[in-house]
Amino acid sequence: MIGKNFKYALGVVAISTVAASSVNAGDLPSIVGANGEISLPDNDFRRDWSHLGTWAVLDEDSPARGVHDVYSQKETVDAYRSTGKYPDGSVLVKEIRSFETADLTTGHVAYAGNQAVWFVMVKDSTGRFEGKNSLWAKGWGWAMFKADDPKKQVAESFEASCEGCHTPVADTDWVFQTGYPTLNQ
Ligand code: HEC
Repeated sequence: MIGKNFKYALGVVAISTVAASSVNAGDLPSIVGANGEISLPDNDFRRDWSHLGTWAVLDEDSPARGVHDVYSQKETVDAYRSTGKYPDGSVLVKEIRSFETADLTTGHVAYAGNQAVWFVMVKDSTGRFEGKNSLWAKGWGWAMFKADDPKKQVAESFEASCEGCHTPVADTDWVFQTGYPTLNQ
């Protein structure tokens, strides 16, 4: 009896994982609504997805000061390693956490504190929402969420909220590719 229930529970987990991380060609993950609305993935991406890389913004004056960890689905990593491209349905999540320092037995160290902001990109090379929803441009959906209300998408539009800063990496599909060694191994 216990064995049966356990099996059932595993089945449910497997189904919800597929919904959150699907990268089937042409499909978009369940975080994308019918009109291109974007939600923050609600799976445990720190545990279940691949960690692509970490940035640390040290500038005291920068609003982006903090530790930036970037995650994506394992299927995206597999596809990128074999094709050098992000397949449709790829989700990139950048989690910004506060930057803390301490003197430990290793020396003066920095580590990630509280969550602050998540930036999300969703790949759609077909551009199905471009021109209809201002969060979609350049083959991606673009969105932003803050820790005080993670269900609320707060970016105004790709053009107003994201484009200026990502233009320097237009040639690498608008992604700061140098920070993601996981994709190259
Ligand atoms: C102030 C400049 C700036 C703005 C504004 C900005 N980004 Fe970024 N973004 C960066 C930089 C630089 C990186 C990589 C280095 C870092 O995180 O410091 C990055 C990385 C990312 C990543 C990780 C994948 C990648 O492209 O390398 C995502 C996802 C992301 N940004 C999404 C967004 C979205 C969505 C918006 C708009 C809502 C946005 N960004 C606005 C500068 C910016």
